[in-house]
Amino acid sequence: TIVPVLLSGGSGTRLWPLSREMHPKQFLPLVGEDTMLQATWLRAAPLAGDRGPIVVANETHRFVVAEQLQQVGARPAAIVLEPVGRNTAPAIAAAALEALRDAPEAVLLVLPSDHVVQQPAAFHAAVHAALPAAEAGKLVTFGVVPRGPETGYGYIKSATGADGAPSPVDAFVEKPDLARAQAYVASGEHYWNSGMFLFRADAYLKALEKLAPEMLSAVRAAWEGARQDVDFTRLDADAFAASPSDSIDYAVMEKTDDAVVMPLDAGWSDVGSWASLREVSPQDAHGNAHHGDVVAIDCRNTYAHGERLIAMIGLEDTVVVETPDAILVGRSDRIQRVKDVVAELKARD
Ligand code: GDD
Ligand code: MG
Repeated sequence: TIVPVLLSGGSGTRLWPLSREMHPKQFLPLVGEDTMLQATWLRAAPLAGDRGPIVVANETHRFVVAEQLQQVGARPAAIVLEPVGRNTAPAIAAAALEALRDAPEAVLLVLPSDHVVQQPAAFHAAVHAALPAAEAGKLVTFGVVPRGPETGYGYIKSATGADGAPSPVDAFVEKPDLARAQAYVASGEHYWNSGMFLFRADAYLKALEKLAPEMLSAVRAAWEGARQDVDFTRLDADAFAASPSDSIDYAVMEKTDDAVVMPLDAGWSDVGSWASLREVSPQDAHGNAHHGDVVAIDCRNTYAHGERLIAMIGLEDTVVVETPDAILVGRSDRIQRVKDVVAELKARD
């Protein structure tokens, strides 16, 4: 039994001005009509049989999560609410405890809710091919052939690189510096970690017990002390706050001996920037991609996104984003510096 776990805790500022603290990117329709959270569920649903997802989200987002899932007909098995963010390792632990409540054999398919997968059928095939390893107790990660020395990703070394089946992870390095990332890409022996995982709920908890026992006991206390109302499982605030904050990548994947990697070639992208949004959106013959009403004359490789009509003339490699209260215009190769804009705005108030 595959139980999709949708992680929806991020507050992504890299897509400013569209994504804000109260409206991070997973709740926005960035590609197509569904929001990223909705698209994540629709992509996972065929793998889940008649089971709904377990969603783990921050308390402040509970209504938008419930409403968006309802709009696409998802009936969550649980919406687990975090009073504070403690990163992905505790969030997944809470989901694992929740899944074991009624399915001791549950295999969790952990999915960030802000990724694009252009070929869902290839994704489904990879999950099916990895399922036997997960059922046997392995921690499966899905590896993507690197497209460049991105420092925001985890890198997975796997020498065997078997086709169509998971192979052992020789090393897992989360967010290396640029020099190491370049060496990994050049080696041809590394994958990017997609951030999606497949493992038995009990195997994950066992790994935590060994590698992060304080985290496990804090999350267990928070889950046992949870308040249950009609739609939500509210983790106990004090107990959950006492958990160390760490990602699954650092807390488990870098340290475990039980990891295997399943190659994934499915048009995966984590949409980390406006430039990557252009790459995953339909483009015209000159590489322009638009979301909304756009007139582009003599433009190449532009990305425009807005509510109002946007007209552009003679632009290249440029991003234009229009919202009711802010306009962003920037060069594609520097657009990741929106984080500096956000920092400057924070410093102002
Ligand atoms: N519920 C919950 N609670 N979700 C969270 C929390 C939390 O405290 N923190 C993060 N998330 C969610 C985010 O919303 C996102 O969907 C996912 O978990 C991953 O978190 P990120 O913060 O986006 O991680 P990252 O991008 O730095 O790194 C991860 O993803 C990369 C691929 O995109 C790692 O797994 C890397 O190894 C990987 O390469
Ligand atoms: Mg991410």
